[in-house]
Amino acid sequence: MRLQTIRDIDVRNKVVLLRADYNVPLDEEQNITSDLRIVTSLPTLQYLLDNGAKKIVIISHLGRPEGEDEKLSLRPVAARLAQLLNEKVGFAPLPKAPLTNQERVVLLENLRFDAGEEQNSPEFIKNIIDQVAPDFYVQDGFAVIHRAHASTDAVAKFLPVYAGLLIENEVEKLSKVTENPEHPFVVIIGGSKIEDKQPLIEKFLDTADKIIVGGKIAADGYEATSDKIYVAEDFDEDLSGTKLDIGPLATVKIAEILKDAKTVVWNGLLGKAEDPAYATSSTVVAEILGETEGINAVICGGDTTGFVTELLTEHANLSYSLISTGGGAALEFLLGQDLPGLKAIKKAN
Ligand code: 3PG
Repeated sequence: MRLQTIRDIDVRNKVVLLRADYNVPLDEEQNITSDLRIVTSLPTLQYLLDNGAKKIVIISHLGRPEGEDEKLSLRPVAARLAQLLNEKVGFAPLPKAPLTNQERVVLLENLRFDAGEEQNSPEFIKNIIDQVAPDFYVQDGFAVIHRAHASTDAVAKFLPVYAGLLIENEVEKLSKVTENPEHPFVVIIGGSKIEDKQPLIEKFLDTADKIIVGGKIAADGYEATSDKIYVAEDFDEDLSGTKLDIGPLATVKIAEILKDAKTVVWNGLLGKAEDPAYATSSTVVAEILGETEGINAVICGGDTTGFVTELLTEHANLSYSLISTGGGAALEFLLGQDLPGLKAIKKAN
């Protein structure tokens, strides 16, 4: 079933209420340390502006505040968005009266400053709708579609919901690997929490040709239950003997497996890659996936996408089919779970 997107409707002179996921990492001084989620929201905003939308009012959450918390204000996001979009971006608190901002693009304050958002409260989202008076709703917060919140779920009671271009792209790329992967299809699993990753291993055991297991999961002694699973066999250790990266033998073996791959899903770093001394295997894999023509490489999971995005700042020659903006959302999508935010989007006949 195809999702209806903003391409299916006439946006000229329309007022748009748009859900983005601007849950970006901030440092102590509220500086944005990765703007991936702002950059990836631009195509939808640009499309709406270029096609004559009258006004775009953007809503998002940031972090997990309990009530209002100035440290989790979306104000720094409005400033960064204005730079990237090259357009004035207004900023306003969650409205209690009709919105009076004159700018064509306005970002509202953190939805989670009001408990109604996470409680999936129809009254909460209805109040925003009443003050903004939009013609329709655009859901483009891919990273939050696994949450049944007011801005992902209850909103559909009041407005037609269309997918933005970010959601369209993520859903298309992720569906391709779940429904119709080109073979050989390799899944690379790393990271530290086996309870999070085991469902993914099980999910792909049928469709993948090879599943590679590295990271702390392998270091902790993961035992393969199928010939399809390759678990890293050697490790780089620190002086105390803690295994912090997979070793050269495993890295060469993985490079060999990836040589013929046509589809690769990578979730989880292969070592403690935030320390350059233990980033070798993850760097090798990122380079192979980013340099080899013809590989449909989908990168997901916050640590892995953060690592690859960082690498891209120094190696612009690398390219990937998808660096997913959704951590939990991408994982749940790959596992075939029901995603409330996707269910709320109108389906094409
Ligand atoms: C994320 O960062 O995974 C999304 O923005 C969802 O945030 P949450 O896990 O706080 O709901």
